[in-house]
Amino acid sequence: MFQLSVSTQFDWRLAPEDIAGSIAHASALHRAGLLGDADYEQMEAALRGMLEEVHSGELRPAPTDEDVHGALERILTERVGPVLGGRLRAGRSRNDQIATLIRMYLRREIRALGQDVVEVITALCAQSDAHPRAMMPGRTHMQTAQPVLLAHQLLAHAWPLLRDLDRFTDLDKRLAVSPYGSAALAGSSLGLDPELVAHELGFTDSVLNSIDGTSARDLVSEAAYVLAQIGVDCSRLAEDVIAWTTPEFGFAKLDDAWSTGSSIMPQKKNPDVAELARGKAGRLIGNLCGLLATFKGLPTAYDRDLQEDKEPLFDGIDQLHVLLPALAGMVGTLAFDEERLAADAPRGFSLATDMADWLVRQGEPFAKAHDVTGRAVKFCEAHGIGLPELSDQQLAAIDPALTADVRKVLNIQGSVASRNARGGTAPVRVAEQLAAVKQQSAHF
Ligand code: ARG
Repeated sequence: MFQLSVSTQFDWRLAPEDIAGSIAHASALHRAGLLGDADYEQMEAALRGMLEEVHSGELRPAPTDEDVHGALERILTERVGPVLGGRLRAGRSRNDQIATLIRMYLRREIRALGQDVVEVITALCAQSDAHPRAMMPGRTHMQTAQPVLLAHQLLAHAWPLLRDLDRFTDLDKRLAVSPYGSAALAGSSLGLDPELVAHELGFTDSVLNSIDGTSARDLVSEAAYVLAQIGVDCSRLAEDVIAWTTPEFGFAKLDDAWSTGSSIMPQKKNPDVAELARGKAGRLIGNLCGLLATFKGLPTAYDRDLQEDKEPLFDGIDQLHVLLPALAGMVGTLAFDEERLAADAPRGFSLATDMADWLVRQGEPFAKAHDVTGRAVKFCEAHGIGLPELSDQQLAAIDPALTADVRKVLNIQGSVASRNARGGTAPVRVAEQLAAVKQQSAHF
Protein backbone atom coordinates (compact mmCIF):
# COMPACT_ATOMS: atom_id res chain seq x y z
CA MET A 1 0.00 0.00 0.00
CA PHE A 2 2.76 2.41 0.96
CA GLN A 3 4.83 1.70 -2.13
CA LEU A 4 1.81 2.42 -4.28
CA SER A 5 0.86 5.61 -2.43
CA VAL A 6 4.22 7.25 -1.90
CA SER A 7 4.88 10.33 -4.04
CA THR A 8 7.79 12.12 -2.31
CA GLN A 9 10.16 10.86 -5.00
CA PHE A 10 8.47 13.27 -7.43
CA ASP A 11 6.43 15.77 -5.41
CA TRP A 12 9.28 16.96 -3.16
CA ARG A 13 10.05 19.54 -5.81
CA LEU A 14 6.88 21.30 -4.61
CA ALA A 15 8.32 21.77 -1.11
CA PRO A 16 9.07 25.53 -1.58
CA GLU A 17 5.48 26.13 -2.69
CA ASP A 18 4.12 23.94 0.13
CA ILE A 19 6.02 25.93 2.75
CA ALA A 20 4.96 29.26 1.21
CA GLY A 21 1.39 27.98 1.34
CA SER A 22 1.80 26.97 5.00
CA ILE A 23 3.18 30.40 5.92
CA ALA A 24 0.18 32.08 4.27
CA HIS A 25 -2.18 29.60 5.95
CA ALA A 26 -0.60 30.22 9.36
CA SER A 27 -1.13 33.91 8.89
CA ALA A 28 -4.80 33.28 7.93
CA LEU A 29 -5.24 31.21 11.12
CA HIS A 30 -3.60 34.03 13.09
CA ARG A 31 -5.92 36.64 11.59
CA ALA A 32 -8.92 34.40 12.35
CA GLY A 33 -7.83 34.24 15.99
CA LEU A 34 -6.98 30.54 15.83
CA LEU A 35 -3.27 31.06 16.41
CA GLY A 36 -1.91 33.44 19.07
CA ASP A 37 0.79 35.99 18.34
CA ALA A 38 3.63 34.02 19.91
CA ASP A 39 2.49 30.72 18.38
CA TYR A 40 2.23 32.32 14.96
CA GLU A 41 5.69 33.85 15.22
CA GLN A 42 7.23 30.58 16.33
CA MET A 43 5.51 28.66 13.54
CA GLU A 44 6.46 31.17 10.89
CA ALA A 45 10.10 31.20 11.98
CA ALA A 46 10.22 27.40 11.89
CA LEU A 47 8.67 27.33 8.41
CA ARG A 48 11.12 29.94 7.12
CA GLY A 49 14.03 27.93 8.51
CA MET A 50 12.67 24.84 6.74
CA LEU A 51 12.41 26.77 3.49
CA GLU A 52 16.09 27.69 3.66
CA GLU A 53 17.02 24.07 4.32
CA VAL A 54 14.90 22.93 1.39
CA HIS A 55 16.74 25.34 -0.88
CA SER A 56 20.15 24.25 0.42
CA GLY A 57 19.21 20.61 0.02
CA GLU A 58 19.67 19.85 3.76
CA LEU A 59 16.02 19.03 4.25
CA ARG A 60 14.84 15.81 2.60
CA PRO A 61 11.78 13.62 3.10
CA ALA A 62 12.19 10.46 5.16
CA PRO A 63 11.61 7.09 3.51
CA THR A 64 8.46 6.76 5.63
CA ASP A 65 6.89 10.03 4.44
CA GLU A 66 4.04 9.53 1.99
CA ASP A 67 3.96 12.89 0.24
CA VAL A 68 5.51 16.36 0.40
CA HIS A 69 2.66 17.72 2.54
CA GLY A 70 2.92 14.93 5.13
CA ALA A 71 6.71 15.14 5.21
CA LEU A 72 6.76 18.89 5.85
CA GLU A 73 4.05 18.65 8.52
CA ARG A 74 6.03 15.91 10.28
CA ILE A 75 9.21 18.01 10.20
CA LEU A 76 7.39 21.11 11.45
CA THR A 77 5.81 19.13 14.27
CA GLU A 78 9.20 17.73 15.28
CA ARG A 79 10.52 21.29 15.48
CA VAL A 80 7.67 23.16 17.21
CA GLY A 81 6.13 20.26 19.13
CA PRO A 82 2.91 18.31 18.56
CA VAL A 83 0.54 20.91 20.08
CA LEU A 84 1.57 23.80 17.84
CA GLY A 85 2.42 21.59 14.87
CA GLY A 86 -1.03 20.04 15.05
CA ARG A 87 -2.74 23.42 14.68
CA LEU A 88 -1.59 24.09 11.12
CA ARG A 89 -3.89 21.53 9.52
CA ALA A 90 -7.04 23.35 10.68
CA GLY A 91 -9.23 24.51 7.79
CA ARG A 92 -7.20 22.97 5.01
CA SER A 93 -6.74 19.66 3.30
CA ARG A 94 -4.07 18.13 1.14
CA ASN A 95 -6.67 18.42 -1.62
CA ASP A 96 -6.67 22.21 -1.74
CA GLN A 97 -2.99 22.27 -0.85
CA ILE A 98 -1.89 20.23 -3.86
CA ALA A 99 -4.27 22.06 -6.19
CA THR A 100 -2.73 25.36 -5.07
CA LEU A 101 0.86 24.18 -5.23
CA ILE A 102 0.59 22.83 -8.73
CA ARG A 103 -0.68 26.21 -9.93
CA MET A 104 2.07 28.11 -8.13
CA TYR A 105 4.71 25.76 -9.45
CA LEU A 106 3.39 25.97 -13.00
CA ARG A 107 3.32 29.75 -12.94
CA ARG A 108 6.99 29.82 -11.97
CA GLU A 109 8.04 27.13 -14.42
CA ILE A 110 6.28 28.50 -17.50
CA ARG A 111 7.98 31.82 -16.94
CA ALA A 112 11.37 30.08 -16.89
CA LEU A 113 10.51 27.82 -19.83
CA GLY A 114 9.31 30.85 -21.79
CA GLN A 115 12.83 32.27 -21.45
CA ASP A 116 14.22 29.04 -22.91
CA VAL A 117 11.81 29.44 -25.84
CA VAL A 118 13.01 33.04 -26.26
CA GLU A 119 16.58 31.68 -26.58
CA VAL A 120 15.59 29.59 -29.59
CA ILE A 121 13.80 32.57 -31.17
CA THR A 122 16.89 34.69 -30.51
CA ALA A 123 19.09 32.15 -32.30
CA LEU A 124 16.74 32.21 -35.32
CA CYS A 125 16.89 36.02 -35.31
CA ALA A 126 20.70 36.03 -35.07
CA GLN A 127 20.96 33.75 -38.12
CA SER A 128 18.48 35.99 -39.98
CA ASP A 129 20.59 39.02 -39.08
CA ALA A 130 23.74 37.25 -40.28
CA HIS A 131 22.18 36.34 -43.66
CA PRO A 132 19.84 39.20 -44.57
CA ARG A 133 20.03 38.65 -48.35
CA ALA A 134 20.71 34.92 -48.70
CA MET A 135 18.23 33.14 -50.94
CA MET A 136 17.20 29.50 -50.95
CA PRO A 137 14.79 27.19 -52.71
CA GLY A 138 11.44 27.32 -50.97
CA ARG A 139 9.58 24.03 -51.11
CA THR A 140 6.00 22.82 -50.83
CA HIS A 141 5.28 19.07 -50.70
CA MET A 142 9.09 18.91 -50.29
CA GLN A 143 9.27 19.78 -54.03
CA THR A 144 10.93 22.94 -55.38
CA ALA A 145 8.37 25.75 -55.34
CA GLN A 146 9.66 29.34 -55.33
CA PRO A 147 12.84 31.07 -54.16
CA VAL A 148 12.60 32.62 -50.69
CA LEU A 149 14.95 34.43 -48.37
CA LEU A 150 16.71 32.12 -45.93
CA ALA A 151 15.70 34.57 -43.18
CA HIS A 152 12.05 34.22 -44.22
CA GLN A 153 12.22 30.46 -43.84
CA LEU A 154 14.07 30.69 -40.51
CA LEU A 155 11.58 33.18 -39.12
CA ALA A 156 8.74 30.89 -40.21
CA HIS A 157 9.89 28.81 -37.21
CA ALA A 158 9.94 31.81 -34.86
CA TRP A 159 6.24 32.61 -35.21
CA PRO A 160 4.88 29.32 -33.84
CA LEU A 161 7.23 29.71 -30.88
CA LEU A 162 6.00 33.28 -30.33
CA ARG A 163 2.46 31.90 -30.26
CA ASP A 164 3.59 29.33 -27.69
CA LEU A 165 4.82 32.21 -25.52
CA ASP A 166 1.45 33.83 -25.98
CA ARG A 167 -0.18 30.56 -24.90
CA PHE A 168 1.89 30.62 -21.71
CA THR A 169 0.84 34.20 -20.99
CA ASP A 170 -2.79 33.31 -21.55
CA LEU A 171 -2.60 30.16 -19.44
CA ASP A 172 -1.09 32.20 -16.62
CA LYS A 173 -4.32 34.22 -16.35
CA ARG A 174 -6.16 31.00 -15.47
CA LEU A 175 -3.38 29.72 -13.22
CA ALA A 176 -3.53 32.97 -11.25
CA VAL A 177 -6.70 31.89 -9.40
CA SER A 178 -6.03 30.24 -6.04
CA PRO A 179 -7.89 27.14 -4.81
CA TYR A 180 -6.69 27.76 -1.22
CA GLY A 181 -9.56 27.59 1.28
CA SER A 182 -11.43 24.96 -0.73
CA ALA A 183 -10.28 22.45 1.94
CA ALA A 184 -11.31 18.85 1.15
CA LEU A 185 -14.11 19.87 -1.24
CA ALA A 186 -16.72 21.97 0.58
CA GLY A 187 -14.68 24.97 1.72
CA SER A 188 -13.55 26.05 5.16
CA SER A 189 -15.77 26.94 8.15
CA LEU A 190 -13.10 28.60 10.26
CA GLY A 191 -13.39 32.21 9.10
CA LEU A 192 -10.22 32.02 7.01
CA ASP A 193 -9.94 34.48 4.15
CA PRO A 194 -9.10 32.66 0.87
CA GLU A 195 -8.73 35.93 -1.04
CA LEU A 196 -6.13 37.29 1.33
CA VAL A 197 -4.19 34.01 1.22
CA ALA A 198 -4.43 34.11 -2.57
CA HIS A 199 -2.87 37.56 -2.69
CA GLU A 200 -0.14 36.60 -0.23
CA LEU A 201 0.80 33.75 -2.56
CA GLY A 202 0.93 36.01 -5.61
CA PHE A 203 -2.43 34.98 -7.09
CA THR A 204 -4.77 37.60 -8.47
CA ASP A 205 -7.99 35.95 -7.29
CA SER A 206 -9.40 32.91 -5.48
CA VAL A 207 -11.84 30.28 -6.79
CA LEU A 208 -15.60 30.68 -6.40
CA ASN A 209 -16.27 26.94 -6.32
CA SER A 210 -14.38 24.80 -3.82
CA ILE A 211 -15.26 21.51 -5.57
CA ASP A 212 -13.82 22.79 -8.82
CA GLY A 213 -10.94 24.32 -6.86
CA THR A 214 -9.80 20.97 -5.50
CA SER A 215 -10.45 18.84 -8.58
CA ALA A 216 -9.77 20.99 -11.65
CA ARG A 217 -6.77 19.68 -13.57
CA ASP A 218 -7.65 21.12 -16.97
CA LEU A 219 -4.91 23.65 -16.27
CA VAL A 220 -2.41 20.81 -16.01
CA SER A 221 -3.51 19.29 -19.32
CA GLU A 222 -3.53 22.76 -20.88
CA ALA A 223 0.05 23.27 -19.75
CA ALA A 224 0.94 19.81 -21.10
CA TYR A 225 -0.64 20.81 -24.40
CA VAL A 226 1.55 23.92 -24.65
CA LEU A 227 4.62 21.82 -23.79
CA ALA A 228 3.64 19.31 -26.49
CA GLN A 229 3.04 22.12 -28.98
CA ILE A 230 6.48 23.56 -28.24
CA GLY A 231 7.87 20.06 -28.79
CA VAL A 232 6.08 19.78 -32.14
CA ASP A 233 7.23 23.26 -33.21
CA CYS A 234 10.83 22.39 -32.30
CA SER A 235 10.50 19.06 -34.09
CA ARG A 236 9.52 20.79 -37.33
CA LEU A 237 12.49 23.14 -37.06
CA ALA A 238 14.67 20.11 -36.31
CA GLU A 239 13.42 18.32 -39.40
CA ASP A 240 14.53 21.25 -41.60
CA VAL A 241 17.97 21.19 -39.98
CA ILE A 242 18.27 17.42 -40.45
CA ALA A 243 17.51 17.75 -44.18
CA TRP A 244 19.65 20.85 -44.73
CA THR A 245 22.74 19.33 -43.17
CA THR A 246 22.77 16.20 -45.36
CA PRO A 247 25.47 16.28 -48.07
CA GLU A 248 22.68 16.00 -50.68
CA PHE A 249 21.18 19.34 -49.57
CA GLY A 250 24.43 20.85 -48.34
CA PHE A 251 22.65 24.02 -47.18
CA ALA A 252 24.35 24.18 -43.80
CA LYS A 253 26.94 22.51 -41.61
CA LEU A 254 26.47 21.62 -37.96
CA ASP A 255 28.97 22.97 -35.48
CA ASP A 256 31.16 20.26 -33.94
CA ALA A 257 30.01 21.27 -30.46
CA TRP A 258 26.36 20.59 -31.35
CA SER A 259 26.76 17.40 -33.36
CA THR A 260 28.15 13.93 -32.77
CA GLY A 261 30.53 11.67 -34.61
CA SER A 262 30.31 7.96 -35.19
CA SER A 263 32.51 5.42 -33.42
CA ILE A 264 33.10 3.59 -36.70
CA MET A 265 32.54 6.06 -39.57
CA PRO A 266 35.15 8.85 -39.34
CA GLN A 267 33.36 11.20 -41.75
CA LYS A 268 30.12 11.36 -39.72
CA LYS A 269 28.56 14.46 -38.21
CA ASN A 270 25.19 13.51 -36.85
CA PRO A 271 22.36 15.93 -36.00
CA ASP A 272 21.60 14.33 -32.62
CA VAL A 273 20.23 17.54 -31.09
CA ALA A 274 17.68 17.85 -33.88
CA GLU A 275 16.82 14.17 -33.71
CA LEU A 276 16.32 14.32 -29.96
CA ALA A 277 14.06 17.34 -30.50
CA ARG A 278 12.00 15.25 -32.90
CA GLY A 279 11.99 12.33 -30.47
CA LYS A 280 11.08 14.39 -27.41
CA ALA A 281 8.05 15.74 -29.28
CA GLY A 282 6.63 12.22 -29.32
CA ARG A 283 7.22 11.89 -25.60
CA LEU A 284 5.57 15.26 -24.87
CA ILE A 285 2.52 14.30 -26.92
CA GLY A 286 2.38 11.05 -24.94
CA ASN A 287 2.40 13.00 -21.66
CA LEU A 288 -0.55 15.09 -22.82
CA CYS A 289 -2.53 12.06 -24.00
CA GLY A 290 -1.87 10.25 -20.72
CA LEU A 291 -3.12 13.19 -18.67
CA LEU A 292 -6.31 13.56 -20.69
CA ALA A 293 -6.98 9.84 -20.34
CA THR A 294 -6.44 10.06 -16.56
CA PHE A 295 -8.85 12.98 -16.16
CA LYS A 296 -11.70 11.73 -18.31
CA GLY A 297 -14.57 10.11 -16.42
CA LEU A 298 -13.38 11.00 -12.90
CA PRO A 299 -16.21 11.37 -10.39
CA THR A 300 -16.71 14.98 -9.25
CA ALA A 301 -14.32 16.31 -6.57
CA TYR A 302 -10.91 14.99 -5.56
CA ASP A 303 -9.89 11.46 -6.53
CA ARG A 304 -6.51 9.93 -5.91
CA ASP A 305 -6.09 9.40 -9.64
CA LEU A 306 -5.19 13.09 -9.67
CA GLN A 307 -1.86 12.29 -8.05
CA GLU A 308 -0.89 10.88 -11.46
CA ASP A 309 -0.88 14.38 -12.95
CA LYS A 310 2.57 15.26 -11.65
CA GLU A 311 5.05 12.95 -13.31
CA PRO A 312 3.98 13.62 -16.93
CA LEU A 313 3.88 17.35 -16.23
CA PHE A 314 7.27 17.45 -14.48
CA ASP A 315 8.76 15.25 -17.18
CA GLY A 316 7.63 17.62 -19.92
CA ILE A 317 9.05 20.63 -18.11
CA ASP A 318 12.36 18.89 -17.38
CA GLN A 319 12.76 17.64 -20.95
CA LEU A 320 12.17 21.07 -22.47
CA HIS A 321 14.53 22.74 -19.98
CA VAL A 322 17.28 20.53 -21.39
CA LEU A 323 16.22 20.48 -25.01
CA LEU A 324 15.53 24.16 -25.71
CA PRO A 325 18.99 25.52 -24.79
CA ALA A 326 20.62 22.76 -26.88
CA LEU A 327 18.37 23.57 -29.81
CA ALA A 328 19.26 27.26 -29.48
CA GLY A 329 22.96 26.29 -29.47
CA MET A 330 22.59 24.14 -32.55
CA VAL A 331 20.57 26.72 -34.53
CA GLY A 332 22.81 29.61 -33.50
CA THR A 333 25.97 27.86 -34.70
CA LEU A 334 24.71 26.47 -38.03
CA ALA A 335 27.10 27.51 -40.82
CA PHE A 336 25.00 28.24 -43.90
CA ASP A 337 26.48 27.90 -47.38
CA GLU A 338 25.04 30.99 -49.06
CA GLU A 339 26.51 30.10 -52.47
CA ARG A 340 25.05 26.63 -52.47
CA LEU A 341 21.67 28.00 -51.37
CA ALA A 342 21.69 30.63 -54.13
CA ALA A 343 22.76 28.09 -56.76
CA ASP A 344 19.90 25.79 -55.77
CA ALA A 345 17.27 28.53 -55.52
CA PRO A 346 16.42 28.77 -59.27
CA ARG A 347 16.60 24.99 -59.84
CA GLY A 348 13.51 22.98 -60.68
CA PHE A 349 11.84 25.85 -62.58
CA SER A 350 11.21 27.73 -59.34
CA LEU A 351 10.86 30.96 -61.38
CA ALA A 352 7.87 29.66 -63.37
CA THR A 353 5.40 31.53 -61.14
CA ASP A 354 7.35 34.73 -61.81
CA MET A 355 6.90 34.23 -65.55
CA ALA A 356 3.16 33.63 -65.07
CA ASP A 357 2.81 36.67 -62.79
CA TRP A 358 4.70 38.79 -65.38
CA LEU A 359 2.19 37.72 -68.06
CA VAL A 360 -0.67 38.72 -65.75
CA ARG A 361 0.94 42.15 -65.29
CA GLN A 362 0.98 42.42 -69.12
CA GLY A 363 -2.80 41.96 -69.05
CA GLU A 364 -3.10 38.21 -69.72
CA PRO A 365 -5.67 36.15 -67.78
CA PHE A 366 -3.96 33.95 -65.18
CA ALA A 367 -5.34 30.75 -66.74
CA LYS A 368 -3.57 31.60 -70.01
CA ALA A 369 -0.42 32.72 -68.17
CA HIS A 370 -0.34 29.36 -66.34
CA ASP A 371 -0.77 27.48 -69.61
CA VAL A 372 1.88 29.49 -71.51
CA THR A 373 4.39 29.11 -68.68
CA GLY A 374 3.64 25.39 -68.52
CA ARG A 375 4.52 25.10 -72.19
CA ALA A 376 7.72 27.10 -71.66
CA VAL A 377 8.74 24.72 -68.84
CA LYS A 378 8.03 21.70 -71.03
CA PHE A 379 10.11 23.18 -73.86
CA CYS A 380 13.02 23.88 -71.49
CA GLU A 381 12.85 20.39 -70.04
CA ALA A 382 12.97 18.86 -73.51
CA HIS A 383 15.99 21.00 -74.43
CA GLY A 384 17.80 20.74 -71.12
CA ILE A 385 17.84 24.50 -70.42
CA GLY A 386 16.42 26.84 -67.78
CA LEU A 387 13.72 29.48 -68.32
CA PRO A 388 16.23 32.41 -68.36
CA GLU A 389 18.10 30.73 -71.23
CA LEU A 390 15.16 30.83 -73.69
CA SER A 391 16.06 32.95 -76.77
CA ASP A 392 13.78 35.72 -78.04
CA GLN A 393 12.71 33.48 -80.92
CA GLN A 394 12.02 30.52 -78.64
CA LEU A 395 9.95 32.73 -76.32
CA ALA A 396 7.93 34.12 -79.19
CA ALA A 397 7.41 30.64 -80.62
CA ILE A 398 5.98 29.43 -77.33
CA ASP A 399 3.60 32.42 -77.25
CA PRO A 400 3.76 35.89 -78.79
CA ALA A 401 2.94 37.39 -75.39
CA LEU A 402 6.40 36.29 -74.18
CA THR A 403 8.72 39.18 -75.12
CA ALA A 404 12.38 39.57 -74.19
CA ASP A 405 11.32 41.78 -71.25
CA VAL A 406 10.21 38.72 -69.30
CA ARG A 407 13.85 37.88 -68.59
CA LYS A 408 13.97 40.76 -66.08
CA VAL A 409 11.90 38.69 -63.64
CA LEU A 410 13.60 35.38 -64.41
CA ASN A 411 16.23 35.65 -61.67
CA ILE A 412 16.03 34.89 -57.98
CA GLN A 413 16.77 38.44 -56.82
CA GLY A 414 13.96 39.86 -58.93
CA SER A 415 11.62 37.06 -57.92
CA VAL A 416 12.16 37.51 -54.20
CA ALA A 417 12.08 41.32 -54.36
CA SER A 418 8.77 41.24 -56.24
CA ARG A 419 6.95 39.43 -53.39
CA ASN A 420 6.75 42.64 -51.44
CA ALA A 421 3.21 42.60 -50.09
CA ARG A 422 2.83 42.39 -46.30
CA GLY A 423 4.06 39.00 -45.12
CA GLY A 424 5.99 38.30 -48.33
CA THR A 425 9.61 37.23 -48.76
CA ALA A 426 10.95 40.53 -50.20
CA PRO A 427 14.00 41.71 -48.21
CA VAL A 428 12.22 44.90 -47.16
CA ARG A 429 9.33 42.90 -45.68
CA VAL A 430 11.58 40.35 -44.02
CA ALA A 431 13.52 43.16 -42.34
CA GLU A 432 10.25 44.48 -40.90
CA GLN A 433 9.28 40.97 -39.86
CA LEU A 434 12.58 40.40 -38.09
CA ALA A 435 12.11 43.60 -36.10
CA ALA A 436 8.61 42.45 -35.11
CA VAL A 437 9.86 39.03 -33.97
CA LYS A 438 12.56 40.63 -31.85
CA GLN A 439 10.11 43.06 -30.32
CA GLN A 440 7.52 40.41 -29.50
CA SER A 441 10.00 37.98 -27.99
CA ALA A 442 11.56 40.72 -25.86
CA HIS A 443 8.08 41.37 -24.46
CA PHE A 444 7.61 37.95 -22.90
N1 ARG B 1 -0.49 13.59 -2.95
C1 ARG B 1 -1.83 13.81 -3.40
C2 ARG B 1 -1.86 14.34 -4.82
O1 ARG B 1 -0.85 14.56 -5.36
C3 ARG B 1 -2.51 14.83 -2.54
C4 ARG B 1 -3.03 14.18 -1.32
C5 ARG B 1 -4.48 14.05 -1.29
N2 ARG B 1 -4.72 12.74 -0.84
C6 ARG B 1 -5.86 12.33 -0.35
N3 ARG B 1 -5.93 11.12 0.04
N4 ARG B 1 -6.89 13.13 -0.21
O2 ARG B 1 -2.91 14.49 -5.40
